[in-house]
Amino acid sequence: MLDIKVTLSQNLKQKPADESALGFGRIFTDHMFLMDYEQGVGWNNARIVPYADFALDPAAMVLHYGQAIFEGTKCYRRADGGLQLFRPQANLARMTRSAERMGMPALDEETALEGLKQLVRIEEAWVPHLDGTSLYIRPTMISMDVGLGVHASKKYLFYIILSPVGAYYKEGLKPVSIYVEDAYVRAVRGGVGFTKCAGNYAASILAGDVAEKKGFSQVLWLDGVEQKYVEEVGSMNMMFAYGNKIVTPKLNGSILPGITRDSVLTLARSMGYEAEEERLDINEIFADAKSGKLTEAFGTGTAAVISPVGTLAMKDEKITIGDGGIGKVAQSLYDTLTGIQYGRLEDKFGWIIK
Ligand code: COI
Repeated sequence: MLDIKVTLSQNLKQKPADESALGFGRIFTDHMFLMDYEQGVGWNNARIVPYADFALDPAAMVLHYGQAIFEGTKCYRRADGGLQLFRPQANLARMTRSAERMGMPALDEETALEGLKQLVRIEEAWVPHLDGTSLYIRPTMISMDVGLGVHASKKYLFYIILSPVGAYYKEGLKPVSIYVEDAYVRAVRGGVGFTKCAGNYAASILAGDVAEKKGFSQVLWLDGVEQKYVEEVGSMNMMFAYGNKIVTPKLNGSILPGITRDSVLTLARSMGYEAEEERLDINEIFADAKSGKLTEAFGTGTAAVISPVGTLAMKDEKITIGDGGIGKVAQSLYDTLTGIQYGRLEDKFGWIIK
């Protein structure tokens, strides 16, 4: 593991006064963690420094060819004031898998985890107190070579920034409306859909904007070949409940393997629900919602936590799922997951780092 050099800021920012108005990812803390990579040298120069702009050459490869990957994990404040992280090692391991697919170097996960912990300790006063708030942790890796030839960069920057956050959606915990995207696709098998690369999010922005103008929070992506199998929502994986049975799309290379998705599947089974990973035809989902067989739909994600989906729309058809409110499966999973994350419930799975 690399030594981490710490330089503290002499000019601390004002912390947000109203924790109920944090929103998502708008405010950043006083410090950040950085480390550099150079081919032949490896990861080096691990450091915590005051949060500041980067100097980037206009020809830096990340700005042209998009070798950029990121992660999202959170630090939670317990009722006793103590802090805890939820499965950050799983995020860093996923970053290494994203890196491999994008021709980027494997992360030094040990130094990154230590840097993350030290950064959070320095910024502990930034972890908000209000129920449902947390300190969002954004690890990022970008390519730094200067030049316009398309090839893997030899130099990279890894950094972690922190942001005190509330709910991701403006609806908070209230059910969101989702539009099933029928014109564009997000990813195809053999592509980069399973990675957390910046390009996946860039590719989603136009469809998201169009849907937002029609009054929807997000789009639900279908598979890139037949455009009928459910994939994910970009900011969250999707789950559907048929009474006590939960189903979610099986990972197929084009869906992000969500850490919250994995945690919710494990929790659901431990709570006595049946939970299956399957290929889900959107037409059957609509038919089952109309017949009442489908009782709930919800998304899972670090930022989104568990977000109930009250309405799904496809072309000219709009359906309400269940009674359009928060269903009891989503509510019980939300209570259990956040109970563990905020230290109200025992962590039987070894997910928490205090
Ligand atoms: C997260 O849930 O942490 C994500 O990275 C999703 C992002 C769209 C906010």
